[in-house]
Amino acid sequence: MLQDKRILLILTGGIAAYKGLDLIRRLRERGAAVTPVLTRAAEQFVTPLAVSALAGEKVYRDLFDLTDEAEMGHIQLSRSADLILVAPATADIMAKMAQGRADDLASTLLLATDTPVMIAPAMNVRMWDHPATQRNLAQLRRDGVTVIGPNDGDMACGEFGPGRMSEPLEIVAAVEAHFGPRPMSGKHVLITSGPTHEPIDPVRYIANRSSGAQGAAIATALLDLGADVTFVTGPATVAAPQGARIVAVETAQEMQDAVTAALPADAAIFAAAVADWRVDRASDSKMKKQKGTLPTLRFAENPDILAHVAQMVDGRPGLVVGFAAETDDVVANATAKRTRKGCDWIVANDVSPETGIMGGTENAITLITQDGAEPWPRMAKGRVAQQLAQRIADALT
Ligand code: C5P
Repeated sequence: MLQDKRILLILTGGIAAYKGLDLIRRLRERGAAVTPVLTRAAEQFVTPLAVSALAGEKVYRDLFDLTDEAEMGHIQLSRSADLILVAPATADIMAKMAQGRADDLASTLLLATDTPVMIAPAMNVRMWDHPATQRNLAQLRRDGVTVIGPNDGDMACGEFGPGRMSEPLEIVAAVEAHFGPRPMSGKHVLITSGPTHEPIDPVRYIANRSSGAQGAAIATALLDLGADVTFVTGPATVAAPQGARIVAVETAQEMQDAVTAALPADAAIFAAAVADWRVDRASDSKMKKQKGTLPTLRFAENPDILAHVAQMVDGRPGLVVGFAAETDDVVANATAKRTRKGCDWIVANDVSPETGIMGGTENAITLITQDGAEPWPRMAKGRVAQQLAQRIADALT
């Protein structure tokens, strides 16, 4: 897949640099040549010897190494590659790139290049969330840099949240997507994602714990394959995918309206955790506490958006995919759901607490199609998204 591709891999100084070693192996397994560059800080985490042994090439480390200048020169080094990949990319290198600074070999190469650049950020969650990093991220995206991840998860520093570097195989898949054919080009995919909020009164609502992570990852994977994506999202906690047409909604009824307005689509993927009920006639003003009496909430059923679209007579998308989060009899329940809702595929998963899937970084799904149940091995949620996107592409082409 990556035969004849030369990748200039810049490792910067973070604990995730150890995953950079595996990344080198994975890239080379697929036929890529890897020219490694290490920053001074990266050398605190991985040794130049290990990097050069795995890459099978000399490691570039210093801007003022005259031998390097004589051999190649930093300008040429930065341009001779087909892709520059920065993994891990620290908050520091992102800041330097956003400002156009060139005070070491890595930042100078990045400023001197006219080659496409991809970065896989890795940092503490507070550093990632900091407005300065988010500003730099937005600037880098405007400058045409492709950003892979980061993932949510446990961090080496003991905290939890976004900032964990994508797994080597997720990075490899993004690199392959960059060079590969774009099978979803010209295809419109509609995705619902996140929870819904159903109001009780102007300040209170009923919600659920969906983060929107899996839906956003699927959107990103489909965008990487060239799809035109409409992303209808409830109030999710993860960021919406860059490059999609985002439609933000709150309630199930709003989601239904947004879905109807976004059709026609070649495929529709319903990853949202839609509330089954809403409060019938939510109060227009804040409900007051009254001594001695408790309020009674009356519920009304929400529209089943997936079933509605799956059973459309005119204008049904060519492929309709639903999700099923189950705690027992996963395959039997999900298979019955596929028939009941009328969709083509169900992505089923076991969300029992002991699986650690809900709110976790990995997922183990079973894909239910008309041909039966296909269990997939447990893998990172981003990887599930990439493989699902590939299956969708195969089904539509
Ligand atoms: O019926 P259940 O909620 O288990 O079905 C889950 C699937 O149906 C998911 O794909 C979800 O996005 C979709 N759904 C929907 N509208 C609803 C309820 C669920 O689209 N009101």
